[in-house]
Amino acid sequence: MIRHVLAALLLLTAPALAETAPDRAPEGATGSTPKQTVRAKRFMAVTAHPEATRAALDVLKAGGSAVDAAVAAQLVLNLVEPQSSGLGGGGFLLFWDAKAKRLFAYDGRETAPAGAEPRMFLGADGRPLPFLAAVRSGKSVGVPGALALLHHAHAKHGTLPWGGLFGPAKRVAQQGFRVTPRLHRLISDTPTLKERAETRAYFFTAAGMPLPVGHELNSPDFLATLDRLAPGGAEAFYRGAIAEAIVARVREAGGTLASSDLAGYKIEERAPLCGLYIGFKICSMGPPSSGGIAVLQILAILERFPSETVTAEDEKAAHLFVEAARLAFADRNLYVADPAFVRVPVKGLLDGAYLAQRAKLIDPRRAQEKIEAGTPPEDKGEFTPDRGEESPGTSHLSIVDADGNAVSFTTTIENGFGAQMMAAGFLLNNQLTDFSFEAERDGKPIANRVEPGKRPRSSMAPVMVFDRDGRLLLVVGSPGGSRIISYVARTLVRVLDGGADIAVAIAKPHVATTGTAAEMEKGTDAEKLAERLTALGHRVSVNELNSGLHGIQVQDGTLIGGADPRREGVAMGE
Ligand code: DON
Repeated sequence: MIRHVLAALLLLTAPALAETAPDRAPEGATGSTPKQTVRAKRFMAVTAHPEATRAALDVLKAGGSAVDAAVAAQLVLNLVEPQSSGLGGGGFLLFWDAKAKRLFAYDGRETAPAGAEPRMFLGADGRPLPFLAAVRSGKSVGVPGALALLHHAHAKHGTLPWGGLFGPAKRVAQQGFRVTPRLHRLISDTPTLKERAETRAYFFTAAGMPLPVGHELNSPDFLATLDRLAPGGAEAFYRGAIAEAIVARVREAGGTLASSDLAGYKIEERAPLCGLYIGFKICSMGPPSSGGIAVLQILAILERFPSETVTAEDEKAAHLFVEAARLAFADRNLYVADPAFVRVPVKGLLDGAYLAQRAKLIDPRRAQEKIEAGTPPEDKGEFTPDRGEESPGTSHLSIVDADGNAVSFTTTIENGFGAQMMAAGFLLNNQLTDFSFEAERDGKPIANRVEPGKRPRSSMAPVMVFDRDGRLLLVVGSPGGSRIISYVARTLVRVLDGGADIAVAIAKPHVATTGTAAEMEKGTDAEKLAERLTALGHRVSVNELNSGLHGIQVQDGTLIGGADPRREGVAMGE
């Protein structure tokens, strides 16, 4: 026990933020800082930054619910981890109501404006625009959903007054916070931030240098926004001065976003998507996210192989994992899109007989050369697969409150620094580049093509796991673009099947895929598997696999928290 208290103290007092010099990556990796398992008895929060975790913890101490804590944490994250999430973005939030024993799934995904059209990401030559050009254009900005999501979830599950949750963020906006090594590095690695007046003014010194580590960054503009939202709620975001500022900024950059798009925004309450894995009930988000379906498919396929093979950290386990994930990605690319526009055969994709047949395609001695989507029971053959891949700005936070309620919230502005434009003191998302840039191929439409009012397909997979008696066992999720699916699925295998504690599971070297190459985490033991996987026929690449897994495990009344060593987050609890 004393050992754990010491570990927690060490983490609280010295959230060391390692500075290394890795290669450039989409939301760049910034080194790895070892983090211990944190234990608590009553409540716990794990977020991507110590200030945000502290904000959540203060709310929990004051008797707030997990949702109250998530609101406070998100508002702080907007300031301290601006590249990843904020009010200019959207997300998916699971809420577990312990008393009612009910799980809620809220979809605060950005939507395409009425003026969006299927070919808007094609150039004059009919070819897809270069990714960064699309990201930085006003066309990439969807109607932000984060504030509506939090306001709605708070109205249903909050216990403290909405306006009171703004205190920590107001303090940080006013007094400032110290720029971390990671934020400094990411600014340095994103030179295009200098090309726009507002991002240049916010992220660079007067002399044009990236804000140095330790610089006290405050935000009067964001403070003014908080002062409007604390009394005004969602109404004050989607109508009036803030909405007008967003619309003006996006239009200046060539987007079609209109006031009516913001005024018409609605979050969706969806049925959580659940499935079984070795007797555990795993719940996540269904469409428009592909995350839940893909994670459940991977687990169901792996369940058909011996546990000792699946849980080993060797090349056989890596091979199986990558093959299962490649099968899931083939289905994802063909079938998953906004269910308001496309009939996604969710039941068919998770059908036991269908997945048994998919699992048989895996040869334990050889990588499949070409993987195609399957034909699940409900398929009508209407679509052709998209080949888009997202590149990573996202954050995951996990919270359990004193009543046993929980939040699993993955929140994003899409690419690092989103569309690289700001309004009302926050960065705007580029979420619409999660749509397929192409609308059709070979005479068939692509399910995830752009359409007005549609939500782009996501890979986000906030997860909660329950035991046979319906007790909450685990809350977890991660950023990482389409690699989220691998990060989350492999962590679930390690904890549920391998018996690792959540912090240990998160820290293990990653093996991932986004459907084609088998990716090994650079600078870790996973690199050693590269040669053997190549010999099995895989196209192997060694990459920074910059996850941000944040999770809480509930074990015999103890809360066990794990924060990803690859980012600067911490777990704290009492
Ligand atoms: O919704 C999605 O799947 C992506 N826009 C998430 C992007 C992301 O995770 C960035 N992470 N670092």
